[in-house]
Amino acid sequence: SKGCKLVGSGSTVPTLQVSNDDLAKIVDTSDEWISVRTGIRNRRVLTGKESLISLAVEASRKALQMAEVDPDDVDLVLMCTSTPEDLFGSAPQIQKALGCKTNPLAYDITAACSGFILGLVSAACHIRGGGFQNVLVIGADSLSRYVDWTDRGSCILFGDAAGAVLVQACDCEDDGLFSFDVHSDGNGQRHLNATMKENERDDELGSNGSVLNFPPRRSSYSCVQMNGKEVFRFAARCVPQSIASALGKAGLSSSSIDWLLLHQANQRIIDAVATRLEVPPERVISNLANYGNTSAASIPLALDEAVRGGKVKPGHTIAAAGFGAGLTWGSAILRW
Ligand code: ACO
Repeated sequence: SKGCKLVGSGSTVPTLQVSNDDLAKIVDTSDEWISVRTGIRNRRVLTGKESLISLAVEASRKALQMAEVDPDDVDLVLMCTSTPEDLFGSAPQIQKALGCKTNPLAYDITAACSGFILGLVSAACHIRGGGFQNVLVIGADSLSRYVDWTDRGSCILFGDAAGAVLVQACDCEDDGLFSFDVHSDGNGQRHLNATMKENERDDELGSNGSVLNFPPRRSSYSCVQMNGKEVFRFAARCVPQSIASALGKAGLSSSSIDWLLLHQANQRIIDAVATRLEVPPERVISNLANYGNTSAASIPLALDEAVRGGKVKPGHTIAAAGFGAGLTWGSAILRW
């Protein structure tokens, strides 16, 4: 069987920067409240002139450049997003814009803030079992389009971004994706969701089978609904367990990793998980002060900054974990 290694990363954020003080002008909050409770100071927000697809394309180009791989040699594009610009999926549009002429397979993965980890799992499966060579795994989300900007409990948390990595087939002895541990639990959906609007889901059939409401009204989605305390508890409980399990499968312990890289949701969640795993703060990657919670983009965005900033060096071992709506959560132990 084949090995998989990460050979390039890239990321992009929108130009509009929104500070905590900016938010305090539209909801009853303050820079102090937000930074103490979350660690977030700024976030980037997509404006009318930008698109999530163009961010994803730019992040992908940077990853391909770093990897020195031609777009034509990409045979799979995985777009991990919960906010696609086409209900049917955005990945083929990215494939087209990148100029992958030999028609690679391209499809979307929807798994909220765990999307990127599940994208890595899928990349590994396609390489190990399907003969794929160069898999572009993109995490990109624009939750700003689905947040209730009057709800101070949630709108302060999110930002928009795109990040990408290129996963390449290699010999087994060079394998850089050591192990995974992934989960979901639909029971927790009530704590975090953006569901189809109930009032537009009228019954279409009467009791005798006759059509009452035809044609059906066009569907839309409600804003992000979140019980912050429950999400916090879920993450602090499940993420350390998942990382410990993935480390165990790889025959490693938390003392042997170079970096802990969590989905950037809240600094207090990151600190709680690091404490539980006994990883010292200097080995924890965090950039959420600048970007907030960028959902599926947060892990590749933080990874790319750490790589380009010289923190993460070739050969370093990283424990990465995502968690979020679904509920979904999962970890990947990898070597850069
Ligand atoms: N500014 C000022 N006050 C606020 C704000 C705000 N932005 N938001 C809430 N408050 C108030 C509340 O109204 C409440 O006031 P009350 O006591 O008068 O009722 C008080 O602050 C406490 O509110 P809580 O919701 O209990 O605050 P908590 O300490 O739980 O912090 C927070 C809220 C920051 C959202 C926290 O629960 C959290 O970060 N949870 C994790 C959420 C998360 O990470 N979600 C996304 C992860 S999954 C994904 O990525 C999609």
